[in-house]
Amino acid sequence: MADTAKPSRFVFPDAFLWGSATSAYQIEGSPLADGAGVSNWHRFARTPGHVRDGDTGDLACDHYRRWRDDVGLMRGLGMNAYRFSVSWSRVLPEGRGPVNPRGLAFYDRLVDALLEYGIAPMITLYHWDLPAALDDRGGWLNPDIAHWFADYAQELFRKLDDRVRLWTTINEPWVVTDGGHLHGVLAPGHRCLHEPPIAAHNLLRAHGAAVQAYRAGGKHEIGIVVNLEPKYAASNGEEDVAATARADAYMNRQFLDPVFLGRYPEELAGIFGDAWPHWPAEDFETINQGIDFVGVNYYTRSVTQHDAQTWPLRASGVRQRRATHTETQWEVYPRGLTDVLEWVAERYGNPPIYITENGAAFYDPPTAPEGGIEDPLRVAYMREHLRAAHAALERGVDLRGYFAWSLLDNFEWAHGYSKRFGIVHVDYTTQQRTPKASARFYSKVIATRGAALETA
Ligand code: BGC
Repeated sequence: MADTAKPSRFVFPDAFLWGSATSAYQIEGSPLADGAGVSNWHRFARTPGHVRDGDTGDLACDHYRRWRDDVGLMRGLGMNAYRFSVSWSRVLPEGRGPVNPRGLAFYDRLVDALLEYGIAPMITLYHWDLPAALDDRGGWLNPDIAHWFADYAQELFRKLDDRVRLWTTINEPWVVTDGGHLHGVLAPGHRCLHEPPIAAHNLLRAHGAAVQAYRAGGKHEIGIVVNLEPKYAASNGEEDVAATARADAYMNRQFLDPVFLGRYPEELAGIFGDAWPHWPAEDFETINQGIDFVGVNYYTRSVTQHDAQTWPLRASGVRQRRATHTETQWEVYPRGLTDVLEWVAERYGNPPIYITENGAAFYDPPTAPEGGIEDPLRVAYMREHLRAAHAALERGVDLRGYFAWSLLDNFEWAHGYSKRFGIVHVDYTTQQRTPKASARFYSKVIATRGAALETA
């Protein structure tokens, strides 16, 4: 009998990477084990008032001790890639100087276990946990950090580049500057108009210096990870359109323009006014290194309006009343993923792209019920965003992989453990892992290379 079933519209390329992502401080726990130094997040979280309910990463998902089981989980779900970050202060307890071999050995073992199961590691060198010793020297405000970072990166390249094919330098530099230096809600907790441009510039110089170091001996691929949020003007009015351009420059172009085009978007000088420094031209030679791919973290969009009260952008988002919002109050807007991927492709010359994070916090109970966890909102979020990713592929975007945020429920920075992003549930009392319906769904999508998105 002839097979009348229509082929799925959603088949992804054979070489597509299907993974999940995590970061060191959010999952590892044991922050001071085996000779690790103190990180800025270790310190920030212990300062009363910084993190909801006084939560810290002291135990988190206990991944530092349970990593082998967690790799087994990924394998069970059929993933062929995993993005994780290295804790700088485990490898270099003082941020510079002697390497702590026991800290480095943790990542060495993890990489081997992943490869044993056919899971390609993608390493992020910096996902927000800075050695406290460097924080004490000004952290991202100190221009010397570019070579501190390159030296640290070099240690990892030397140890792991024989097995790791995908490297990323900095995770979401925009969040480091906006959350850590402008609004003070993330480490180091500063609230100051003069700091964000300096921190941003040093993050970019550090990125460039690490890429240069990689080119001197690395054999594989290196890129940067940015969080992009497409900005749509709330109206055609001149003020809203200008506000949208400012918001877009600040969040979406501030980092990618210097990396790809060797210059800052012109709106930034207007946003920061007197706090906008004059940058030496040679810095842009360091920053504007060719990279092998871009990592895009996508969660939501913003419909933007002029707002004189919002410092310093004079722009704010308009809440879309009819839309679904996640627990972090982010609008669910899958179409924005297609738009933003196409935008990167058009503006920056169609570079290879990985979706390095995409996911949603929705309410799940602290303890998994007998029958497992049903998380239909997260399943729908994932299905629609994977369809949107596929639409971008069809429009010619060179999309190479998708990493769900996150493998596990984890320490959500200033929200502590109150927001669950995992596709695998973590019971923080017992450390029991339970794959949610979204994990089972993702597993099916992976097994069918996307075809299951048709029927789901
Ligand atoms: C970060 C993650 C974070 C996630 C959800 C991204 O901004 O890279 O560390 O947990 O978004 O907020």
